[in-house]
Amino acid sequence: MPTQTAATGANASLRVQASITAKREGRLLTEPEIAGVVGDFVAGRIPDYQMAAWLATVACRGLNLDETAALTRAYIDGGDRLDLTRVGRPVVDKHSTGGVGDKATLVVTPIVAACGVRMVKMSGRGLGHAGGTIDKLESIPGLRLDLNTDEVYSVVDQTGMVITGQSSSLAPGDGATYALRDVTATVEDIPLIAASIISKKVAVGADGLVLDVKTGEGALIRGQDGARALAQTMVALARRFGLRSQAILTDMSEPMGRAVGNALEVKEALNVLRGEEVPGLSAPCRVLARALLQSADPNLSGIEADQRINRVLKNGEAHDRFIHWATVQGAEPHVLEEPDRLPTAPCVTPVFASRDGWVHRVSPRAIGSAAVRVGAGRLSARAPLDHAAGLVVHHRVGDRVDAGDVLVEIHHSWGNINAAVQEATQAFVIGDEPCPPTTQVHEVIT
Ligand code: URA
Repeated sequence: MPTQTAATGANASLRVQASITAKREGRLLTEPEIAGVVGDFVAGRIPDYQMAAWLATVACRGLNLDETAALTRAYIDGGDRLDLTRVGRPVVDKHSTGGVGDKATLVVTPIVAACGVRMVKMSGRGLGHAGGTIDKLESIPGLRLDLNTDEVYSVVDQTGMVITGQSSSLAPGDGATYALRDVTATVEDIPLIAASIISKKVAVGADGLVLDVKTGEGALIRGQDGARALAQTMVALARRFGLRSQAILTDMSEPMGRAVGNALEVKEALNVLRGEEVPGLSAPCRVLARALLQSADPNLSGIEADQRINRVLKNGEAHDRFIHWATVQGAEPHVLEEPDRLPTAPCVTPVFASRDGWVHRVSPRAIGSAAVRVGAGRLSARAPLDHAAGLVVHHRVGDRVDAGDVLVEIHHSWGNINAAVQEATQAFVIGDEPCPPTTQVHEVIT
């Protein structure tokens, strides 16, 4: 961040103090006021401690939709925007609020592209119990995830899709404030989350956006009411910026699919693209893919969209599209043709059921935390990852298990894994009564 300039810094400091006071006293902030605070912070004219106080006051007192739109605009200001007219219309985009084992982008993007709809996806890294798409894809040898704008256009032109790291030049205000929010407990606030996510999506500039808003223990906002409120805010906000969007509330009360951990998740995504039905993963991915196809063509019926999706999964086009895209972006093709050549952990430790019964709970936070313990995730932004490490969860809520059945396999390198075994064991609750499986798709919000 640029260093603070004393002359203009004094005015900026007074402006941010006035804005903090106004919000604390319950006044609505104006668009120029919000633009001024964010612009001054990005330019280094106000220090972190004042911006942290502003964010905390906003998180406590709230922002209405006008203020949230002003914040979104302020985040985008001064940053780059993609010009997707260069790759042909329509182009769609998706965003997930994140969760454990969420590899939906790896499955859905090639399905949508194989159905003839271009998809541009800028993704992030994981922190804490939830993984990030870029970390998962980094387990593919050679794959480049730092494309510049011209490379983005070129890859979409050649393959109909692109997945790359989030460019810091899009929505610079979000990048600058996100790091502060992360250390001041101001991430989990609906207007701040909505402005952060929608600013990046508006800067990408797709024609249609599908928001996968997670709800449940492993989600950013756990309760369904809060997740719904976040979804409604994001859809309304996107509409203000002319971005057609819908949100799907999906379940994160247990991990998505079986694999949790980077290379393990890539392998599982490739299996789904080859036509395998993976419980807890295939069904929500189909719903997301259908919504994306319909966002590109509002006249397309759900039945037609499903037929297209089934066709590209059955005839191998979705799988081939993934390989073609990854190869164009630098991946070594033979590794993806034979996924066993992706990073593989030297040790696999099973965790067994201690009793007979029905699975009542598989805690995504405990599974995610066990994955962090073996190096599949990180607790601080720069921590290195073990791309081969992770967990494969063999049972879902509602399954019948017998004592001695394998509940989870932990994939890891040599060393002590007692803590991971303990967390993986504690993730499971097995009860005497049968238990219904989890509902995977809760609501669609348009
Ligand atoms: N993801 C984002 O991009 N921003 C947030 O504020 C939270 C999750």
